[in-house]
Amino acid sequence: MEKRRLQLFRGESVFQHPYVFLVTVILSIIFIDPFRIGPLGDHDYKPVKHDVASYKKVMENWPADNRSRLGYGKLEFVDQVYGPESLEFDRSGRGPYTGLADGRVVRWMGDGFGWETFAVVTPNWSEKLCANGNKSTTPTQSKFEHRCGRPLGLRFDTKTGDLYIADAYYGLLVVGPEGGLATPLATHDIEGNPILFANDLDIHSNGSIFFTDTSKRYNRLNHFLILLEGEATGRLLRYDPNTKETHVVRDGLAFPNGVQLSKDESFLLFTETTNCRVIKYWLEGPQKGKDYIFANLPGFPDNVRLNDKGQFWVAIDCCRTPAQEVLSNNPLIRSIYFRLPFKMSFLARLMGMDMYTVISLFNENGEILEVLEDKKGVVMKLVSEVREVNGKLWIGTVVHNHIATLPYP
Ligand SMILES: *[C@@H]1O[C@H](CO)[C@@H](O)[C@H](O)[C@H]1NC(C)=O
Ligand SMILES: *[C@@H]1O[C@H](CO)[C@@H](O)[C@H](O)[C@H]1NC(C)=O
Ligand SMILES: *[C@@H]1O[C@H](CO)[C@@H](O)[C@H](O)[C@H]1NC(C)=O
Ligand SMILES: *[C@@H]1O[C@H](CO)[C@@H](O)[C@H](O)[C@H]1NC(C)=O
Repeated sequence: MEKRRLQLFRGESVFQHPYVFLVTVILSIIFIDPFRIGPLGDHDYKPVKHDVASYKKVMENWPADNRSRLGYGKLEFVDQVYGPESLEFDRSGRGPYTGLADGRVVRWMGDGFGWETFAVVTPNWSEKLCANGNKSTTPTQSKFEHRCGRPLGLRFDTKTGDLYIADAYYGLLVVGPEGGLATPLATHDIEGNPILFANDLDIHSNGSIFFTDTSKRYNRLNHFLILLEGEATGRLLRYDPNTKETHVVRDGLAFPNGVQLSKDESFLLFTETTNCRVIKYWLEGPQKGKDYIFANLPGFPDNVRLNDKGQFWVAIDCCRTPAQEVLSNNPLIRSIYFRLPFKMSFLARLMGMDMYTVISLFNENGEILEVLEDKKGVVMKLVSEVREVNGKLWIGTVVHNHIATLPYP
């Protein structure tokens, strides 16, 4: 018995059958992808099950925007700003300020003055190396991103006028009200682990800075691998200005992204992009130190921002599909699927994943107050942040070269 089985695998009989051979070769190409043509290339890819609410359940309770109101948005500053993820205004109301794919933080100085470079995150920033204009949001910039910086999250401290920056490569930094070269505050946590992918931040009135580090394994350029794998090594961190130390508040998160304190600072919200949800983390009261699911979403959330009424705008890239859910729940199938020798965009389209956008307003209890969509992605194809300022929504996008605006309410 033992002998016969051995013979079978010596490759003399079975593998010489043409069909078996063909199937074996195809399978091994898929599994091993020797030419590294699949989207995963030579990455050590280990998919795990996503911890995500059922698509059907989420959609049952998700109101549709029948009028597709985001489609009435206006694109501004086209080809003047490159991948403006986060939008901020200073205490005298100037702005927006935004972080660009070329590594700069810029601010709008009004008609006649235009965009002005406000800050950079590294002394190595130079026009020659980094200023790629509107090519900055294309793969052209990939080689330079880690050298030029990629400011993602921006927040002004309203008391001091200082601007805090979460940069995907340079960690947490701060720059004074006059701008210039930003000073690094945190590049490592208290145990000496590097901060690999700082993403967004918020400032507590006691001076502590809460910020996200999206992954311990993948940097921003490889962020799609975090999504595909479902790996959960991201963290919520707190920088303490008194001790200058960075504490780990929450570990084991799946693509932690946007952070926002509540108006009374009794809790904060952060998004877990891979798991399509918003988490509420209590800072005060009987639930202090505990977290709960605040909202399950139809797509992949990015930043969260507070409006004047203490409500939360969440930017969501859409959307989940039933086919994508099968992959999400089955790491093995996902592993095979993304080793198919096709481009990522093709594989994504095959799953029915069209790019369009949804933004949503929540109250403090996680109840949906408003949903705005651009169902066909006519005007807005990907949104990263929504800021409500003086009757207007300002909408940033990490991959396109414009800022969108929409009168609201
Ligand atoms: C959207 O349209 C559907 C079907 O046409 C309708 O049942 C639903 O009430 C509408 N929702 C809103 C918010 O108007
Ligand atoms: C600037 O670039 C040099 C050469 O690439 C590198 O050794 C140095 O660490 C960089 N400095 C910073 C602050 O990133
Ligand atoms: C850059 O700007 C030019 C001129 O406005 C435009 O034709 C081109 O499509 C833009 N490229 C990108 C990548 O946005
Ligand atoms: C500031 O508040 C946060 C949130 O409640 C808390 O974790 C931190 O210890 C406080 N820091 C100081 C210096 O009081």
